Amino acid sequence: MNILVIHGPNLHFLGKRKPEIYGTQTLAEINSAIKDEADRLGIAIRTFQSNSEGGIIDILTENAEWADALVINPAAYTHTSIAILDALKSVNIPTVEVHISKVDKREDFRQTSYIRSIAVDTVSGKGLQGYLIAIDILNKG
Ligand code: DQA
Repeated sequence: MNILVIHGPNLHFLGKRKPEIYGTQTLAEINSAIKDEADRLGIAIRTFQSNSEGGIIDILTENAEWADALVINPAAYTHTSIAILDALKSVNIPTVEVHISKVDKREDFRQTSYIRSIAVDTVSGKGLQGYLIAIDILNKG
């Protein structure tokens, strides 16, 4: 199985970005834990981060043939991006939406997710572990 992992805008700041909300792990550490979990399960992984909406859509487009499943933390685009929703509908790959923080318990503007409607599942508020849970969900099909 091939799983594509996409991290959205500002997640390259993880480690120093609001650690009380997002924890102290860096994106490199998260990606390393994802790769370890994938190796354990015999899954091939590609990880990407983009700060732009178009960048995320390009990553999706370029990896759509390769990917059997997708883990995406669209970050702030979760709450705004019809373009990413349309791209996800176009590639039609089983997708789990991940949020490091408990978005449901935060500001009102974080309560909308355009992505949730197409996701097979959403994992929120579990930090780094959320990505590993998402991989396990997709691996079990
Ligand atoms: C986030 C939550 C979003 O509301 C926020 O804009 C992010 C990160 C999370 O992982 O908790 O950048 O997706």
